[in-house]
Amino acid sequence: MSKFITNHDVTDALKEVIFFAKQNNIVDLNMIDNIEIKGNDIKISVIFPKLDDPSVGIVYNSIVKTIKDKLGEDVNVEVLPISEKDKGLGPLSGVKNIIAVIAGKGGVGKSTVAANLAIALSKEGKNVGILDADIMGPSVPIMFGVEGQQPGVIERQGKPVMVPLENHGVKILSLGFFVQPDQALMWRGSMINNAFNQLMKDSEWGNLDYLVIDMPPGTGDIQLTLAQSYNIRGTVLVTTPQKIATADVRRAAMMYRQDKLTIPLLGLVENMSYFTPDDQPDKKYYIFGKGATDELAGELDIPVLGRIPIGEKIVESGDGGTPIILNGNEKITLTFKEIALNVLKEIDKL
Ligand SMILES: Nc1ncnc2c1ncn2[C@@H]1O[C@H](COP(=O)(O)OP(=O)(O)OP(=O)(O)O)[C@@H](O)[C@H]1O
Ligand SMILES: [Mg+2]
Repeated sequence: MSKFITNHDVTDALKEVIFFAKQNNIVDLNMIDNIEIKGNDIKISVIFPKLDDPSVGIVYNSIVKTIKDKLGEDVNVEVLPISEKDKGLGPLSGVKNIIAVIAGKGGVGKSTVAANLAIALSKEGKNVGILDADIMGPSVPIMFGVEGQQPGVIERQGKPVMVPLENHGVKILSLGFFVQPDQALMWRGSMINNAFNQLMKDSEWGNLDYLVIDMPPGTGDIQLTLAQSYNIRGTVLVTTPQKIATADVRRAAMMYRQDKLTIPLLGLVENMSYFTPDDQPDKKYYIFGKGATDELAGELDIPVLGRIPIGEKIVESGDGGTPIILNGNEKITLTFKEIALNVLKEIDKL
């Protein structure tokens, strides 16, 4: 082709390349990041939702064929696929760090730690969200005092998306918004995954420094899928001091550490560590035993991020919708602050 090729010629040709997943051409879908023309050499960078998808190859071949058909067989076409994430686009691109709070078994204080950690991080001046992924015991709405409320809905690129509720300076979404407590047992794994994906991706999280996820306890398929599907910055493991609890946490920790899933374990939080009676403020009674958490921390080579004592105020405040960290007079407030600072420190080290 003798004519001088312009950016306009290339764009016109690209309008004939369809991205079938979104049923439109790649120009109108704003997938063209850059076009570089040097004589007969054309370099086009194209943005895809994700790169490990068959559609990338199809679009790639279609671009080469269309450009050659339109502008001549003698042009050299190079296509450079880039992901939305690399470009800072996509639904979760505003979320800098995802922290998963996990436990080996239920009832050890995972939601209590997740809720107080989220608020503590927000008190440190961070933009924070919390996502309650525990369908069997979605307690985050109760702890944040938004039980019974529903998230808002807005439209994003023609698609309805959820707007998180907000309280205590934290954005909140919960699987509990979708399911009645007595229906939870009837939900199959695929349904839970779908609902979880919606909470993550079809939601307007905006810019967050930290998204704290209250994960379901244990090491089942769901935990594995969630961990594999998202770029989790690190996990916080919650345990109680009993040997039997730390055995479960060890299993959970190993799941997050297995070969293909290198999610960093930021550290252990020991909950219900000891009891201090009001009239003996200097005494610590280790009701559930002592030592098992340190042993596990040593074995996993991770730090103990903090130890939370047993306290009825933790129950009252959680049930009452204002987690204990919001009560500045409590010594436990400082403990949670320390845990949050330790989490930040461990993330900095990664
Ligand atoms: N340090 C503590 N002292 C006293 N009570 C506590 C403490 N930590 C948590 N609790 C209480 O124990 C109960 C269970 O805590 P929480 O809901 O945080 O656990 P969980 O691991 O999320 O449980 P689940 O597996 O049901 O989701 C709650 O009533 C909570 O208020
Ligand atoms: Mg819970």
